[in-house]
This record gives sequence, structure tokens and C-alpha cells, in this order.
Amino acid sequence: MAESTPANWRSADEYLIDSLVGHDAALESAVAAQRAAGLPAIEVAPVAGKLLHLLARIAGARRVLEIGTLGGYSTIWLARALDENGRVITIEAEARNAEVARANIDAAGVGERVEILVGRAVEVLPTLEGTEPFDLVFIDADKESNTIYLDWAARLGRPGTVVVLDNIGREGEIVDPHTTDPRVAGTRAALEMLGADARFDATALQTVGLKGWDGFALAVVTGASAP
Ligand code: DHB
Ligand code: MG
Repeated sequence: MAESTPANWRSADEYLIDSLVGHDAALESAVAAQRAAGLPAIEVAPVAGKLLHLLARIAGARRVLEIGTLGGYSTIWLARALDENGRVITIEAEARNAEVARANIDAAGVGERVEILVGRAVEVLPTLEGTEPFDLVFIDADKESNTIYLDWAARLGRPGTVVVLDNIGREGEIVDPHTTDPRVAGTRAALEMLGADARFDATALQTVGLKGWDGFALAVVTGASAP
């Protein structure tokens, strides 16, 4: 029986990637380009990218909203779940990241399905009001603003919209109510909101693997009105 250590979580994740996800030239080039450009190595793990892709397919998604593009790795996974009429609208605060993402997304052959909106999400999200509702929302940006992003996910969604919120585990720091880390505080506030706000029905899963000990929350927009 193997020990539960970060090195073993990594080996098991590599086994799952080899068995189930495979090695895709466009996705691996996207990660390499992102590393070469000096972007932080915080994109979703391959198994999580595939999960986002499967959730979008299971939901029959046509319109996907992503908050936090980084280098476009998760964006490519999501875009590949859509047909040619589908759209991923992805919001990125850093112009440099958006440039890297644009090149990666175009190189992966899904450029026509992806619109990158450059700006702070708190400013960009209100401009999406009145557009067709999103079928899936993936939140993976500055953790301090997580509750604002959840509120927008409900407002820009419809009953049945799938919401995924990344990084709910944060190496176990999430249990500390006295945390001084604003990212942990922002994620705790988001989890409390998912539990208390009738607009969502949610759970969360902890994960171990290439990215250490973390996790994601999964919610559905219920159609109840805002508190
Ligand atoms: C961080 C952000 C992420 O979205 C992630 O998946 C991992 C780490 C961070 O800011 O530390
Ligand atoms: Mg993340």
C-alpha cells in the first residue's frame, strides 16, 4: 500500500493522465508557451481540464463563461466541448496573459469559438448583462472576489446553469476562520455563500495530484431569487 504523500499523489495523477486524458500536442504546447512567457504554473491539472470539458458536454453547453483565462489552457478544454456555434467568453485582467492565451487558443484550432475580454472581471461582468444566459460558468481568478463572481454567475446564468469554482482546498488552509490570507478568506466566503444562498445548490470535492492538495466546488443555479 503506497503512502499518501505529495510525490505519490503526483505519480497517481500521471497514471490517470496517461490512462484517461492522454497527451495532446495543442494542450501541451499551450502549457509550454505559458511557462516560456513566465506565467505562473497555476493552470488546472489535465484531469481537471478534462473534467471541465466533460461537464460542459454533459450540460450540453453552448455558452460558457470563464473568469480568469491565464494562458488559455482550461479555455481550450472548455471550447473543445462546444460545437462550432458554441462560445466561450473568457475574462482576463492581465493583457500579457490574454496575448499568450489568444495565441494558444488559436493554435489549438478553437479561436473562432473563444472571445477573450481583457479587463478586471468586476468591470467586465456587468457588460454581459442582457446577453443570452450562460450554461456553465468556471470561476478561477482572484480569490478575493469569489463572492462577487458567484453573484454574477447566478445573474448571468439560468436555472440549471453549472458553476465550478476552483481552489477551494488551498492545502487545508480553508478550515482556518482566523486566516489572514485574503485568498483563503475570499474562498471561505464563497463556500459560505454557496451553502447559504438559495440561488445555488452546491457541493465541493477535495483533490490531490499534480497541484498538491486543493479542490473545487460544483454548484447548480436553482432559479431561486437573490437573498
Ligand atoms: C492559485 C490560483 C489558482 O487558480 C490555482 O489553481 C492555484 C493557485 C494562487 O493564486 O495561488
Ligand atoms: Mg485555479
